[in-house]
Amino acid sequence: MTREYKIAILNGDGIGPEVVDSAKRVLTAAAEDNSLAITFLDFPIGWQAYRKFGRTLPPDTLAGMSECDGWILGPLEAGSYPKDDKDYPMASGKIRKGFDLFANIRPVKSFLKGSKKIDFVIVRENTEDFYPDRNLFKGYGEFWPDEDTVLSLRVVTRRACKRISETAFSLARSRASKRLVTAVHKSNVLIEGDGLFLEEVRKASKAFPDIILNDGLVDSVGMQLVLSPEKFDVLVTTNLFGDILSDVAAAEVGGLGLAPSLNSGEKYAMAQAVHGSAPDIAGKGIANPVAEILSTSMLLEWLHSRNGDESLKRCASTIDNAVTKILASGEKELLTTDLGGNASTGQFTSEIVREIAAP
Ligand code: NAI
Ligand code: MG
Repeated sequence: MTREYKIAILNGDGIGPEVVDSAKRVLTAAAEDNSLAITFLDFPIGWQAYRKFGRTLPPDTLAGMSECDGWILGPLEAGSYPKDDKDYPMASGKIRKGFDLFANIRPVKSFLKGSKKIDFVIVRENTEDFYPDRNLFKGYGEFWPDEDTVLSLRVVTRRACKRISETAFSLARSRASKRLVTAVHKSNVLIEGDGLFLEEVRKASKAFPDIILNDGLVDSVGMQLVLSPEKFDVLVTTNLFGDILSDVAAAEVGGLGLAPSLNSGEKYAMAQAVHGSAPDIAGKGIANPVAEILSTSMLLEWLHSRNGDESLKRCASTIDNAVTKILASGEKELLTTDLGGNASTGQFTSEIVREIAAP
């Protein structure tokens, strides 16, 4: 018997409404093609919510989200939120911490014609580290002891290191490609915090004898990601390093427009592209929606891993195959401007929808 899935739509700011609309159109087409019943429920977030409710993450949005099977979030222009926002500084941090979305999964894959074969995933811890909005129970993890000094608090817990490591090893096993996990750290300087992280990665690896464990210092891994990205499979790292490395890695495969991500925990998951709200191109109809579309397909995979409904997996493959085909075509009139093409967001999306609907 097929069931219905409720998906929360959180448009976000800047190009958010454009790329989320695109993800919705593509998901609708793929669901139809795979007899998957999906209902979309819209909830205000970001500037839209602030203008109406004086806050960027209203309680009704949170309550509505908790009733849904999964969430699609557009980028949030957190850098521009006013200080009187009750959810200041960052709604997405509040969501990640509040719903315990501890794993941020960021695949980096080459799709474009003639590109090097790159296919790895960054598994980034999402709930602690140097992030001052989420590493304390109450308060903010940056302090001014005097007017010329700032202290930033870094939090690393055994529990968070353990579960992010287990997530990375499981992922390496399910990918069945190189069966390799690389732990990224700076334990020569952050001796205690990254020492604990490495200790937990090594412990977790014992339950995965079929997966090779390597580790490397973040600066040196950063260089290797640029010089020889094809040798990586799964990278596991703490929050800030993962954030930085994933933008660097995105540049290897065609830019932020092609960088999807999933924020996931035990109970909830949220599709959210790596990129921000791109205020420089917002409203122009030229944003690349691939990152948001592929994040949505990751959400379907995650739902499948929870309940085994094969139509979810088929739907994800339908989306991935259509995107792969259009991107690999290398045709200017099919690609968005960031990829050297001249298609608008709407035209690109229509092309994906047409590909999905094709017999
Ligand atoms: P950004 O990712 O918004 O933009 C960086 C550059 O990449 C810009 O030139 C932009 O036009 C381009 N770009 C990004 N996504 C694109 C897409 N889908 N298609 C084509 N081009 C794309 O980063 P920026 O400018 O540093 O941040 C803007 C705002 O977004 C800030 O307020 C920041 O706080 C927020 N932000 C939010 C994130 C999120 O919600 N996940 C992540 C990163 C930044
Ligand atoms: Mg980032």
